[in-house]
Amino acid sequence: MWRQLPSLVSSSYQASWRSCRRCRSQRRSHCCQDRRLRRPRLLETTHSVETPYGSVTFTVYGTPKPKRPAILTYHDVGLNYKSCFQPLFQFGDMQEIIQNFVRVHVDAPGMEEGAPVFPLGYQYPSLDQLADMIPCVLQYLNFSTVIGVGVGAGAYILSRYALNHPDTVEGLVLINIDPNAKGWMDWAAHKLTGLTSSIPEMILGHLFSQEELSGNSELIQKYRNIITHAPNLDNIELYWNSYNNRRDLNFERGGDITLKCPVMLVVGDQAPHEDAVVECNSKLDPTQTSFLKVSNLLLGKLTEAFKYFLQGMGYMASSCMTRLSRSRTASLTSAASIDGNRSRSRTLSQSSESGTLSSGPPGHTMEVSC
Ligand code: BEZ
Repeated sequence: MWRQLPSLVSSSYQASWRSCRRCRSQRRSHCCQDRRLRRPRLLETTHSVETPYGSVTFTVYGTPKPKRPAILTYHDVGLNYKSCFQPLFQFGDMQEIIQNFVRVHVDAPGMEEGAPVFPLGYQYPSLDQLADMIPCVLQYLNFSTVIGVGVGAGAYILSRYALNHPDTVEGLVLINIDPNAKGWMDWAAHKLTGLTSSIPEMILGHLFSQEELSGNSELIQKYRNIITHAPNLDNIELYWNSYNNRRDLNFERGGDITLKCPVMLVVGDQAPHEDAVVECNSKLDPTQTSFLKVSNLLLGKLTEAFKYFLQGMGYMASSCMTRLSRSRTASLTSAASIDGNRSRSRTLSQSSESGTLSSGPPGHTMEVSC
C-alpha cells in the first residue's frame, strides 16, 4: 500500500523529528507550538451503525463546515483507520488543510480497535458490499457529499461507492488502487505463495515493495509484529479474502462506467501496484485525473499535492496557501499551459534541492516523479 503509507511515514517522521517533536511540522509557522495554532485537544467521536451487511464503525474528527464536503477515508487490508491515516492526518502541514473539513474515518468491519473476532462461518462482506455500507454512514451523519481518501482495498471501495453514487462524491484521492479482479495467473501465483507464506506475510507483500521487505527495516518489523499479533487476525484474513475476490471495476475511458469527479491517483515508485495504477490512469477521464508517482512518498509532498487537489476543486483559497506553495502552483500552471491543455504522461522531475512536487489540478493528467 503505501508500501506507501508506512514507508511514507518512516521517511517523513525521520525528517520531521528534527523540527517539532510534537506535531512534526517542518515549519515553525505551522507548528503546534505556535501560539496562534494552539487549540484544545481535537474531539473525536466513534459511532457504529447497522447496515444490511452488518454494523460498521467510524470515527469523526472536527465539526461539519457549512457548504463543505466531509473528508471520508477508507483504509487498506491489515490496518485500521488509525494505523493507516494517523501519520498523514497528524502531519504538521496537513493541519491547515484538514481544519477546514470534518473527517470521517471508516473502519472495515472487525478492524476497529478492540473488535471481537467474528464467529466461525461468518460471511464477511464483499468489497462491493462494504461500499454499499457507506450510504448508511452518511445518512447517520446527515452529510450529503464527501471527498474520499482511500488506500489499497479502501481505494477500491471508495471507487465502487463513487460509481454507484456519483452525485455524492466531489473528489477522490486513490492511493495504490488496483481496480482489476485477479486473473487466473494472479490466482495461481496467490495459491503458490499461500503454500509457503502466512497470511501476515502475504499482507505485508501487499503493503510493501519487495525491496522494502528484503531491507527488513524497523518499520517492516513493526508492521509484521502488529499484524502477526493482532487479536483480530482472523477478521483481517476475512477482509484480505474479500479484497482478493474483488470484481473488476471495469473503468472505461469515455464509457458509462467511469469516475465522474476529480481524481488524484497516487502510487509509489516500485509499489506492488504500480502497473495497476498506471493502467487505471489510462482508463480514467484525463480531464479529471491527476496522476502522482512518487519514488519516496514523503508526507510533505503528499500533503502539498492534496492541497493543490482541493484548490483545484475550489476549496483552498490561495490565501491559505503558503508562500512557497503559491509560487509552485504558479510555475506549475504555466508549465501545464505551455504544453497545451493536456499534459498526459508528462513527467515533471523535481529538483531534489527544492524537494518540490506537483500534481496538476483536476483537468490535467500529469505524471509527477518526486
Ligand atoms: C484526523 O484529524 O482526522 C485524524 C487524527 C488522528 C488519526 C486519524 C485522523
